[in-house]
Amino acid sequence: MPGFAHHAIPNVTRDPLNASTALVVLYTGPVSMSESIRYEHINSVGLITLDNPPVNAFSLALRVSLRDALTQAIEDDGVTAIVITGGGRMFSAGADITEFDSGVSNQSPTLPELIELVENAPKPVVAAIHGNAMGGGCELCLGCHGRVAASGTKIGLPEVTLGIVPGAGGTQRMPRLIGVPAALNMIVSGKPLTAEQAHKLGLIDELTDSETNLVESGLSLALQLAELGDPVRTRDRDERLAEARDEPELFDQFRRKIAHRARGFEAPYACIECVEAALWKPFSEGVLFERETFQRCRKSLQSKAQRHVFFAERQARKVQGLASDTTVLQVTRAAVLGCGTMGGGIAMCFANAGIRVTVTESTQDALDRGMDMIKKNYHATVSKGRLSREDAEARLALIEPTLDFETVGNADFVIEAVFENMDLKKDIFARLDSVCHSNAVLATNTSSLDINDIAAVTSRPEQVLGTHFFSPANVMRLLEIVRGSQTSPEVLATAMSLSQRLQKVGVVVGVCDSFAANRMLYPYTRQAEFLVEEGALPEQVDRVLYDLGFPMGPFAMSDLAGLDVGYKIRQHREPSQTKNLRHSTIADQLYELGRYGQKTRAGWYQYGEDGRTPVSDPEVTQTIIATSEKLGIDRTEIPDEEILQRCMYPLINEGARILEEGIVERSSDLDLVWLYGYGFPRYRGGPMFWADSLGLAHVYETMKNFHDIHPDWLEPAPLLEQLAREGKTFGEWRAP
Ligand code: 3HC
Ligand code: NAI
Repeated sequence: MPGFAHHAIPNVTRDPLNASTALVVLYTGPVSMSESIRYEHINSVGLITLDNPPVNAFSLALRVSLRDALTQAIEDDGVTAIVITGGGRMFSAGADITEFDSGVSNQSPTLPELIELVENAPKPVVAAIHGNAMGGGCELCLGCHGRVAASGTKIGLPEVTLGIVPGAGGTQRMPRLIGVPAALNMIVSGKPLTAEQAHKLGLIDELTDSETNLVESGLSLALQLAELGDPVRTRDRDERLAEARDEPELFDQFRRKIAHRARGFEAPYACIECVEAALWKPFSEGVLFERETFQRCRKSLQSKAQRHVFFAERQARKVQGLASDTTVLQVTRAAVLGCGTMGGGIAMCFANAGIRVTVTESTQDALDRGMDMIKKNYHATVSKGRLSREDAEARLALIEPTLDFETVGNADFVIEAVFENMDLKKDIFARLDSVCHSNAVLATNTSSLDINDIAAVTSRPEQVLGTHFFSPANVMRLLEIVRGSQTSPEVLATAMSLSQRLQKVGVVVGVCDSFAANRMLYPYTRQAEFLVEEGALPEQVDRVLYDLGFPMGPFAMSDLAGLDVGYKIRQHREPSQTKNLRHSTIADQLYELGRYGQKTRAGWYQYGEDGRTPVSDPEVTQTIIATSEKLGIDRTEIPDEEILQRCMYPLINEGARILEEGIVERSSDLDLVWLYGYGFPRYRGGPMFWADSLGLAHVYETMKNFHDIHPDWLEPAPLLEQLAREGKTFGEWRAP
């Protein structure tokens, strides 16, 4: 039977000489099986094993089977205690999220009903947990009378990341077990605890050092509890709640603490309300309040958007034509060429993942400067308390600076991050071709150059691809993996696997100018600058986009990235790359005034002492007004709505073109690049999902109106027009 290999049930006496302390296990054989559950007797314990691969999600079928097995065990006089465990990789990932839209998750037996059955059972029920116990899986454990976990297990309530609150008693039982502050942290962040942390907090009663003896420990605890008499129900425990009733202000303090991080999100605040309800309402009312809140959130657009992101991340790992068993090449050593802004950050990504990495530069000075920057970054993380000094040193020790190009020959994965210059890159790749070992992957971090042209200078174009990191590379989670026309499946699969090791969200894109994220950025910033020429000011444009949920608007972002960076890119771009489109000259004028952004404390804004807080600057306003005059534009007030549409719809329109051209496989890939590359608000699901929720007919009509006024730009993409006409969404669209 698949999925049970990890803890075969022992059928012999484990330790006959020490039978009084060790459990004498007699296997009495399976009692019943269903498609998603196995139920058997071990001595007088009923052992229920969840078997719903891949993650034991509580689908309706699993819930029905679990109810039947529980009922059978409860009614059987020969059974004195019950153990629930998970087959396969984990205990359970919780409710089956795919049932949320259809409402099947509400069909009886619901998770809350099942957990009530467990908690009210007249005999003890113990959870034996391994792998993951998430969401409803964790809530089931909370309803049990005892919990045993294998070391390495993760236990958590990640519902908030899906835009919902735990809906099966998690917000009511968790604070009763581990206290309010710890429960709030866990539920509102959605971050799981390790088994060890959970044990310390009292959530787990016993830890086992491996999965092999997990079930045995569960059986043993179940029998011990049976001897103690009536099981203690979590719902009846009040001592940890009583502590918090003396400090009711902690909820508002917590709200203030998360205000910045949770801006715009509904679910974190709904979670806090539910935990607060646990304090003041009787348990039966508390769970009702929680369930109502759960249902309201489940139907919200925010939750739909966040669930969309959950599945988008998993979809992105599936690439057409790339078999799931494609060989992944071993990467134990890496090399980065160029230790500037990007190279330094990329080297840190490798070191943070425990991968030894060589960095090379053109001069000793540049190498020293690059290494100093890396050290400074680690130092800053240590001073913020986010990394221990020892860990920082260990990571730094994995980075080996050298001027000797030949050293790169040892690396399994090489990333070139030198200046954005085709001749230089071609020269570097020709040299890589001669020094690198035959299996090495040769990647470029170019942000706009043609990867096929770079690959063509090597004798192994199938081993070349693009790995486009976002700045700062050690922080931003997006990695565009650019598949060249000859990139082999193994090399692509290796880059995808590496992206996960580096904790990046890898999105495969095809070769085109600027790839997906930046290509969509250009029309967005172009429009922002035109709006400023026409009558808006950077402050207004930035406020509108900040209010949409971006961490900052386009002008503040440009100041952060550096106006010099954008200027140099514009200098090197061929007119054909910009399709001969006009761009505003204001950014160039600011650059020429020496205003490079935060680094010079002046850009679109001026910056005070901290160098980070933007303040309006009369010099910028003057430059803007003078430019409008020069262009003969009569400046007028621009409504916020127009700003939002003029910036966002062209970005979405470019996304439609990227889809048409087959640069990405699906619109959700574009959502991911904007979520992880530019901080588009997760609760809106990404720009393409957001467009779908606005209705593509509306987006198309608005674009068409803009195009009628400005015929030289903003032409609606044919795909946008087609989907609008057919009443379809980007989400429904599949490449022909
Ligand atoms: N429901 C439905 N499908 C799920 C699922 C769930 N809860 N969790 C995972 N899956 C699917 C994934 O979509 C994926 O499908 P695919 O192979 O077709 O792409 C497959 O299971 C494997 O998932 P992962 O690739 O994510 O597996 P990992 O081993 O990398 O990660 C995990 C395991 C950490 C458990 C991760 O899957 C996860 O975080 N799952 C979601 C956990 C969660 O949010 N639970 C709360 C659900 S809501 C709830 O319980 C409500 C309750 O309070 C009432
Ligand atoms: P940078 O100018 O900060 O760093 C480039 C480094 O390469 C310099 O330190 C330089 O000394 C070094 N270098 C030059 N010739 C070399 C050689 N022959 N051997 C070894 N090192 C050499 O540039 P940045 O910003 O790090 O960009 C690097 C690449 O990453 C470019 O292709 C750029 O387009 C791309 N990129 C840049 C992003 C950004 O935001 N800065 C974002 C994504 C990609």
